[in-house]
Amino acid sequence: METSDAILTRRSVHKVTDRVPERRTIERLLEAAVRAPTHHLTQPWRFVVLAGEERDRLGRAWARGVERAGKDSSGIVAKVRRAPVIVCVIERPKLHLPKVVEIEEHHATGAALQNILLTAHDLGLGAMLRTGPACSMPEVREVLGVEDDELVAGFVYLGYPQEGAEERPMTRRIAAAELTEWRGL
Ligand SMILES: Cc1cc2nc3c(=O)[nH]c(=O)nc-3n(C[C@H](O)[C@H](O)[C@H](O)COP(=O)(O)O)c2cc1C
Repeated sequence: METSDAILTRRSVHKVTDRVPERRTIERLLEAAVRAPTHHLTQPWRFVVLAGEERDRLGRAWARGVERAGKDSSGIVAKVRRAPVIVCVIERPKLHLPKVVEIEEHHATGAALQNILLTAHDLGLGAMLRTGPACSMPEVREVLGVEDDELVAGFVYLGYPQEGAEERPMTRRIAAAELTEWRGL
């Protein structure tokens, strides 16, 4: 697939089958992730890949966080079973280094996330980036082994698309032309 085609046809895939992607396939996504641009080569990322029962451990931690907030946690564990693999992308902004700017660390991690999504699409996988309150719950951070100077940047739910995934219309965007001011060209 051409890179530009991959970018233009990528979509979030909500529904995937139970088929577990092979470890080598997931490694390719992570190899793509670490090729993201990174100012000062800080490489502010690491990954925790969860499959099988390990997803449930995440789900139980998430449910405890929801309960602590006084909310109904039924259905939370089912959420982590929406895909056979969850790639947790952990960001460690290297703010102790000279010249490192926090927002640039977030940019780099966002680029790494997009590399994962695009490579998944290129390899025929279905991927969906999810964030939400679970990212900052102490219960979730603990189960993932997230250190104090780290953030959970997002959870990439990964699997093979269910039949018909391609038929859903692409989400809409404001045309770039409407958002662009041309100067000198
Ligand atoms: C930083 C980030 C966090 C996201 N978190 C969620 C989420 O928690 N739940 C969700 O359903 N989608 C989440 N999404 C996916 C967006 O909903 C999705 O990208 C958007 O609807 C556009 O659809 P598309 O990816 O198919 O183009 C997230 C996307 C980004 C960039």
